[in-house]
Amino acid sequence: MPKTTQASDAIPWEDFRGNRWEFVRWCKQDDPNGEGRAAALLHQKFAGNSQWAADFLGFKRGESVADLWKQYGYATLGREAQRRTSLGTERFDDDEPAEVLVAKLREYSLRKVYAHLNEWVVPAGYDEAWLVPICDIQGGHRLSAIDRLCALCEWIEATPNCMWFGGGDWYDFVCSTGKQKKGNEIMGPRGTRKVLKHIFWPIRKKCIGLGTGNHELQIERATQVEWDPCHDLAEDLEVPFLGYAFHIVHKIRAEDSKHIEWYYHYHSHGKGGAATASGRTNALLQIAATTTAELVSCGHLHDEISRTIIQRGVDPKTLEIVDHKRLAVMTPSFQKYGDFAERMALPPAPLGSISIRLGVDRHSLHVRQ
Ligand SMILES: [Fe+2]
Repeated sequence: MPKTTQASDAIPWEDFRGNRWEFVRWCKQDDPNGEGRAAALLHQKFAGNSQWAADFLGFKRGESVADLWKQYGYATLGREAQRRTSLGTERFDDDEPAEVLVAKLREYSLRKVYAHLNEWVVPAGYDEAWLVPICDIQGGHRLSAIDRLCALCEWIEATPNCMWFGGGDWYDFVCSTGKQKKGNEIMGPRGTRKVLKHIFWPIRKKCIGLGTGNHELQIERATQVEWDPCHDLAEDLEVPFLGYAFHIVHKIRAEDSKHIEWYYHYHSHGKGGAATASGRTNALLQIAATTTAELVSCGHLHDEISRTIIQRGVDPKTLEIVDHKRLAVMTPSFQKYGDFAERMALPPAPLGSISIRLGVDRHSLHVRQ
């Protein structure tokens, strides 16, 4: 039976329990009106109760389901409120009086943004801590190097003085206007989510958090459900969702010591496209120029680059002119050579990741490639 005539009873509902908007994505796969159909089917199945539907789909509150129904003219019986977006910020109700909205917006605009604090206790006996970024897996693409990823995860699991964080492009997204060719996908986002959860589960306690990438943002935009699939993965692994670009403060001490070392770190998934090595280095240095963080990392352009940035300045206590050293790194990807990189004659690039060495008993910052 074609999907367009499916009744609620004919849907494999259990496949979508707790999978948030996966059901809407599934309905949209081969149907331009899939979102409206998904709204109708959810409304029918849950008798117009948005909280019931939200509980089933894995949302804490019913407003996002209520909004979907409202959009297609269905009445909602569950509690209605403004929906939460993938940035975790609330939305204000357009129908509230102007003075109420102004008061709320004034309060909102005064909010501050804070870095993510990573309190890192390194087992006794280690004078170095290893930080591993994992970026650009692009799972589901036939060139995704899952063998390399599994080997890296095994190393992280076996290394007591190691932590990792995610830098985006967990999923592969192929759109009609993109450089990538359709037909390279061997698995959809649902399978990718399942596979990545399985691979990362043993090392989730060593994870600082997950950042998102342009592929996730494209999935969010294309499916129009205002939900970044990186959120799902972060929730599956019970780790923080950090956004596209974020500051982390690593507060490191050895288990048997009171000495603390602080490292200020900024990660951005990355920017633009670059066919040359100099273009990719420039992209990294442009990101580094936006922050004072001493460690800057990015992914996205699928290359392995590290640059030491020296900036001269005056020590305010002694007036001595001193060098301030910073480190900027671009991590490689887990995408093997082929597809658009080959068609565009981009050079083959290293696979896997890098590890960044942070001194525990004294301040030092290096990269191991
Ligand atoms: Fe990317």
